[in-house]
Amino acid sequence: MTPEGERIGGKSTTREPIIQEPNSSEAAFETFEPEATRRQADVAESSRANRGWWDRNADEYQVEHGTFLGDDRFVWGPEGLDEVEAELLGPPEDLKGKDVLEIGAGAAQCSRWLAAQGACPVALDISHRQLQHAMRIGGSLHLVCADAGALPFADGSFDLACSAYGALPFVADPVLVLREVRRVLRPGGRFVFSVTHPIRWAFPDEPGPEGLSVSGSYFDRTPYVEQDDEGRAVYVEHHRTIGDRVRDMVAGGFRLVDLVEPEWPAWNTSEWGGWSPLRGNLIPGSAIFVCVRD
Ligand SMILES: C[S@@+](CC[C@H](N)C(=O)[O-])C[C@H]1O[C@@H](n2cnc3c(N)ncnc32)[C@H](O)[C@@H]1O
Repeated sequence: MTPEGERIGGKSTTREPIIQEPNSSEAAFETFEPEATRRQADVAESSRANRGWWDRNADEYQVEHGTFLGDDRFVWGPEGLDEVEAELLGPPEDLKGKDVLEIGAGAAQCSRWLAAQGACPVALDISHRQLQHAMRIGGSLHLVCADAGALPFADGSFDLACSAYGALPFVADPVLVLREVRRVLRPGGRFVFSVTHPIRWAFPDEPGPEGLSVSGSYFDRTPYVEQDDEGRAVYVEHHRTIGDRVRDMVAGGFRLVDLVEPEWPAWNTSEWGGWSPLRGNLIPGSAIFVCVRD
């Protein structure tokens, strides 16, 4: 996402969003054109807006990206970096028997891969509709519908936590989330999460050449908000600089052990919203933070 109007969900504001009524699978569509703006949005407003957005857009997200993600692969972002190759959670053989929390799990593809390694994953997401897709794909997974800022687990419940573009880009108070993750991890536990690379905030989120020229300030943390005609946020993303993210992790009680900036691989010829081979070969698109609860 950038202030120019592209969401991580991969849907440009240049296309008309479709708002689907709750509990209606095919009929009763209501369309409106949200206004894209930059303004403050607090914890509650961000959560409410994003829960609604992901519930309304989960179907389209899974149709558009489900094939790339695979049903049971662990992909860290649009570059296609796979946990099999990256081993950011450790060697796959060490995952056996580990309690793992996946945050912002979507259709729980990563959790399904973790379960196949013998781990015991819990897939958490704020969006009920995303978790319905997890049920549609199947597998005997534990699914939890909750906000990453208020994890419904006892202290020290997990050995590992992970998040592929889930929750962190959308929350107004990332330190709150990091403290929650730290609380539910056991000592020595690792948290690995990917987000849009912060440098992307300064560029239009267009996959073509227009996405290669700086159009805004990297240092402007004002959230990107889409709002309805009564000024209610319907989608929110929050920007943190690289330095902010490091400070957030320290404030959250973590030690940063690695920051991975996946390079665009030659095999990946697909576009995902503003992520494309053209841009990916020139500027980073994802940042993956690896941190440890000492
Ligand atoms: C870009 S999708 C990524 C989903 C999945 N990890 C994937 O790779 O396809 C972001 C996910 O984060 C979830 N999310 C957003 N805000 C959240 C929050 N505050 N707590 C938990 N999940 C959240 C959304 O519902 C959505 O499923």
